Amino acid sequence: MKKWTLNSWKNYPVKHIPEYENKKELHMVLDKIRTFPPLVFAGETRTLKKQLADVVDGKAFLLQGGDCAESFAEFHPDNIRDTFKVILQMSLVMTYSASMPVVKLGRIAGQFSKPRSSPTEIKDGKELPSYLGDNINGIEFSEKLRKPDPKRLFKAYSQSASTLNLLRALSQGGFADLNKVHLWNLGFLKKSPEGKRFKELEDKIADALAFMDACGINSDFNRRLKTVNCFTSHEALLLPFEEAMTRIDSTTGKYHDTSAHFVWIGDRTRQPNGGHVEFCRGIENPIGIKCGPTLKSEDLVKLCNILNSKNEKGRITLISRFGHDNVEKFLPKLIRTIKKEGLNVVWSCDPMHGNTIKSASGFKTRPFNNVVKEVKRVFAVHKAEGSYAGGLHIEMTGKNVTECTGGAQKISEKDLSHRYHTHCDPRLNASQALELAFLISDEIKKNSQYSKNIIQAVS
Ligand code: PEP
Ligand code: CO
Repeated sequence: MKKWTLNSWKNYPVKHIPEYENKKELHMVLDKIRTFPPLVFAGETRTLKKQLADVVDGKAFLLQGGDCAESFAEFHPDNIRDTFKVILQMSLVMTYSASMPVVKLGRIAGQFSKPRSSPTEIKDGKELPSYLGDNINGIEFSEKLRKPDPKRLFKAYSQSASTLNLLRALSQGGFADLNKVHLWNLGFLKKSPEGKRFKELEDKIADALAFMDACGINSDFNRRLKTVNCFTSHEALLLPFEEAMTRIDSTTGKYHDTSAHFVWIGDRTRQPNGGHVEFCRGIENPIGIKCGPTLKSEDLVKLCNILNSKNEKGRITLISRFGHDNVEKFLPKLIRTIKKEGLNVVWSCDPMHGNTIKSASGFKTRPFNNVVKEVKRVFAVHKAEGSYAGGLHIEMTGKNVTECTGGAQKISEKDLSHRYHTHCDPRLNASQALELAFLISDEIKKNSQYSKNIIQAVS
């Protein structure tokens, strides 16, 4: 294999990276970003990789979630806090069902750039470049704002830094204390069926904590009861920016992309001979690969070998996203290939991207039932193939939006226009996200019992 350098990706074909008109300005911006502090630290990234290695071994479960695209308009401390709350709530439900740790990974603090199915958009007979994410151009349908603007990268960097700052404070500063679970329930959730179920869980946890306290174990003495690790992730799409954020870790001499703990390669940019794969090959971060219907088994093996030549556990997470009625058609073959080759991977399920449809009124939406169906089918296929379903990857928000239809709130197609705020794909709202966690808790329970039996059988 050829030598990897920070910019060797430029020698390979790349898709979905915009052409900036003003190259001089782009280079000025990138040179400045190269001097900015890292957003995350190499040691944290290594911790995440270790936790993902536990997922490979069936000893933990991965929950990855957040916006499809973060935006400048939705940047608000309440939004960050509420997304974090829902991640905590979901992971509590999952930890309780599975009796195993849940690795919490936000699609947050840097998830801006989007690959689009069409390079242009036509409205009222006018054609303009598509919206590519707030760190590239503006969502407003105007010629000026749709031009890729390098200066947007400064704003995206600064938003990511303050988002991370709040996430660190929330996860380490006492908010995540198990004694405070009652604070995690969002106002509008309290009256809903999920809110009530969550309250029951809260009561059980309070009982368990009271018992532990009586035994002398409490959050004053045990940090793990009052803090959580919350990691960040985004799609490594805009390589000039990722390159500028990649630094040598002084303790190991290895390259880390310090823009997030975990980055993934999208379904549209995972060509084994493409620039995105080349870039990710040389960084130490855990890497996700989106696996959609067009992924061939041979290419999956190639990708794992290029990106993880040492077959290190925790380095690769395969994120399947086939659509609810395509799971049985595509997933078993890939699982068999991975097993046959003895490749160490986390298998995660993205039940969002294969289930997007257009409503009669023109909104992109996802029927909640289909999301649930895909997750259940993925669990069933893994079980049948003797493989461990290790994670869930969702687009969600802590807000009470109306972007996906269905769920206990019975959001109809007509309701979509009420609170449709996403800058790209439709997200589960807080109630739907928590409902999903409850609806799959039986699967998670069986899945973890099954993996514990395997661990016992081989040890
Ligand atoms: C995404 O996760 O936002 C995305 C674009 O997904 P995919 O690459 O799977 O289409
Ligand atoms: Co999306």
